[in-house]
Amino acid sequence: MNRSYARIAHIFSELKGMVLSMAKEKFYITTPIYYPSDKLHIGHSYCTVAADTIARYKRAQGYDVMFLTGTDEHGQKIQRIAEEKGVTPQQYVDGIVSGIRELWKMMDISNDRFIRTTDEMHVKAVQKIFTKLYEQGDIYKSEYEGWYCTPCESFWTEVQLKDGKCPDCGRPVEKMKEGSYFFRLSKYQDKLIDLIRNNPDFLQPSIRQNEMLNNFLIPGLDDLCVSRTSFDWGIPVPFDPKHVVYVWLDALTNYITALGAFSDDDEAFKKYWPADVHLVGKEIVRFHSIIWPAILMALDLPLPKQVYGHGWLLLDGGKMSKSKGNVVDPVRLIEKYGVDAVRYFLMREMPFGADGTFNNEALINRINSDLANDLGNLVSRTVSMADKYFGGTVCDRGVTEEVDSELKALAESTPHTVEKLMDEFQFSNALAEIWKLIGRTNKYIDETMPWALAKDEAKKPRLETVLYNLCEAIRIAAELIAPVMTRTTPKILEQIGAESRGWHSSKTWGAQKSFTVKKGEVLFPRIDVEAELAALEAETGKNAPQEIPKPEPKEEITIDDFARTELRVAKVIACEKIKKAKKLLKLQLDLGYEKRQVVSGIAQYYEPDELIGKKVVVVANLKSVKLCGEESFGMILCASDENGNLKIVNPDGEIAIGSEVR
Ligand code: MSP
Repeated sequence: MNRSYARIAHIFSELKGMVLSMAKEKFYITTPIYYPSDKLHIGHSYCTVAADTIARYKRAQGYDVMFLTGTDEHGQKIQRIAEEKGVTPQQYVDGIVSGIRELWKMMDISNDRFIRTTDEMHVKAVQKIFTKLYEQGDIYKSEYEGWYCTPCESFWTEVQLKDGKCPDCGRPVEKMKEGSYFFRLSKYQDKLIDLIRNNPDFLQPSIRQNEMLNNFLIPGLDDLCVSRTSFDWGIPVPFDPKHVVYVWLDALTNYITALGAFSDDDEAFKKYWPADVHLVGKEIVRFHSIIWPAILMALDLPLPKQVYGHGWLLLDGGKMSKSKGNVVDPVRLIEKYGVDAVRYFLMREMPFGADGTFNNEALINRINSDLANDLGNLVSRTVSMADKYFGGTVCDRGVTEEVDSELKALAESTPHTVEKLMDEFQFSNALAEIWKLIGRTNKYIDETMPWALAKDEAKKPRLETVLYNLCEAIRIAAELIAPVMTRTTPKILEQIGAESRGWHSSKTWGAQKSFTVKKGEVLFPRIDVEAELAALEAETGKNAPQEIPKPEPKEEITIDDFARTELRVAKVIACEKIKKAKKLLKLQLDLGYEKRQVVSGIAQYYEPDELIGKKVVVVANLKSVKLCGEESFGMILCASDENGNLKIVNPDGEIAIGSEVR
């Protein structure tokens, strides 16, 4: 970019920043609301981290941001899982949702609201919406006969099926025949075609437009069945409570009910609606770009400005799913490499609209090359030199040389390039631009050779200018990575002794006049690739040691000794983490004849929600103890191996709770 253009662009963006801070423009962004049916994996985190990156970027630019996420808790799928686990659907979702909220906290997700579709405010609003649509004739009663995919909660016609299976997920479908309510989706077909054809911004990336037009809109829309009677875990139709509202109608409206639409307090709705962007995975674009706008058209409400359908994070060539057993646990990755490394990898590794593949080696290589080598080394070398040659404090002595101008020009243009890419959700390219600046700054060290300048007293002012330039380039890069790497920016700013001045300050070279550096922790320790990959494989069982050493035998006991231990089958009816005790879970057990609390050191191996409904074996006559302030009446049996795996012992099949194990 030539310098006068950069200057004009800079003035414009400063003005925009000023205008925004005077009367903040709103920006409303949403993620899909997640099914609490599976433990969330890295693929789910992908969408949420992307939304969080946008939300942080927009806030940093001065927007008044509303960032919504939440959970989609109704439907046949959830009811079935809860039944299998022998708990009520509400008990089941309560357990899982708390885990989801914890995961988002752990990943530094800065959502402003979290909606649960079981929230009373949402339930009432959905009932009002359903009634309104019914009263105005957009919903009518008839009979549904067709196919249903429960995992996707989707209706399909005979011709839409692929080899008799769900065309989305390939799983078997079920025949359905129910008296149902229908939404007049077909009535909106032409308007929807117009919407997608004439407003290219509405559905992005643009390949999704043809997918929707060719696969659904042009072949023709059928009216949509919007109620079910064969199960009851849903929002009852207020004027016909044998029916519950179809889960997608219930779920899609979360984007407005979370803001208080159709309630007495709709301030936020008036302020933030329409959404600026709904970020969704590509398989649910259909619901968001066809059904959702049609509902809004029927309600006479403005449409979201954009639906963005991102690609999938694949593993071994396929979509991650619990049933395939190929999920990657984000918690494990964060524990090992830190939240910023994981967030950086997700945003850097694949272009946002397209599919990408997750693999451990790619993650470790990114950490080593981009984070430890390029960024981490730059910061630590600069800090060490400022410390060594100037006791920590450096200012610009104005002793410039030709080589400085190239660095400054790049530092001045990078924020504008990054902004343009971030506005288009091209996170990977935006990060690549920031890393060009980081690379250029590293090269500047090689070019200026501060260690050589330090040998000549007369060159000290030049050396100080060089170190100042390095700190200033680092400061700019640190401000720019902030939306993605929430924890690294403050650490870098602290180490170079810069104030946090925010996004817009990245556009002003010289915004920080002097730096007083402070040596700090290594930002990203280098990882030994081979050792780490071997450890990861061992963890997933692939390379688990084959030879099992013979254990030291314990003292022999008699059958009578054993009989002194009372072992009983119990069912976990509730489970939660214990604050301040990382390893402990507090379980409530049902033994049939009584309920009791047990504290167990298995929090590193199980999420509380995974345990609810599970049968366990408990040592029932163990003397009670207090662990971290919680009473424990017994102990549950687990097996653990040399590789650090631990599994709860449970009976092989159906057996009544309270049964004695002997
Ligand atoms: N509950 C619905 C959404 C209702 S929104 C009104 C749903 N839930 S989900 O839990 O199955 O998926 C939530 C989001 O996670 C979807 O956007 C989905 O595409 C995304 N992902 C799930 N697995 C994914 C990958 N492996 N990669 C990327 N995104 C993935 O659908």
